[in-house]
Amino acid sequence: MKSIVVLISGNGSNLQSIIDQCQAEKIDGKVVAVISNKQDAYGLTRATNASIPSHVVDNKSFADRESYDQALKNCIEQYQPDLVVLAGFMRILTPEFVRFYQGKMLNIHPSLLPKYKGLHTHQRAIDDGESEHGASVHFVTPDLDGGPVILQSKVPVFADDTATDLAARVQQQELTMYPMVVSWFCNERLSMQADKALMDGKPLGSQGYA
Ligand code: GAR
Repeated sequence: MKSIVVLISGNGSNLQSIIDQCQAEKIDGKVVAVISNKQDAYGLTRATNASIPSHVVDNKSFADRESYDQALKNCIEQYQPDLVVLAGFMRILTPEFVRFYQGKMLNIHPSLLPKYKGLHTHQRAIDDGESEHGASVHFVTPDLDGGPVILQSKVPVFADDTATDLAARVQQQELTMYPMVVSWFCNERLSMQADKALMDGKPLGSQGYA
């Protein structure tokens, strides 16, 4: 069974879906710790409710990104995880930190990458008149939201959608797709080589598993 550390900044609905699927034995893994950069993240309560150790490594206590990431790494390394899952962790990580976990760190991003990297993805998709939008799970590389895609899920964009409507539709997909990718990783079906995501040893295309 693989050990998983999950990093969060907020509500933690993706964290919850991964905890639930581990508990249901749909994922051959265990969330061994949850770490937040924000004291008031609701995901910390979810960890407590599931009897999972949690930590706050507050970015406000550190002078720069390097010292923050070093403290974050020290906290993670207590658990020697097989996998680090970014689940709504809203911080840019230093290249050194990312390289240390390369091939064993996943992120979920609320857009059909490579479209709409960064913030406010739902509003930007609406403003551009997109007819479809979605979420992507990818390996994390030093290129922000640019690592190889493992899985994408699409949703329609309706004419009268607000960003909130669209975010809710995307998030519904996230709750299914992220645990699925985590289960693939825990079953050793996923790997990363030369900036490509591999599934069962075969390189995935730019849209991931299709
Ligand atoms: C999710 O929608 C995730 O895609 C997004 O934050 C939300 C976290 O929700 N992540 C990013 O925007 C990362 N750039 P949650 O805390 O309820 O899981």
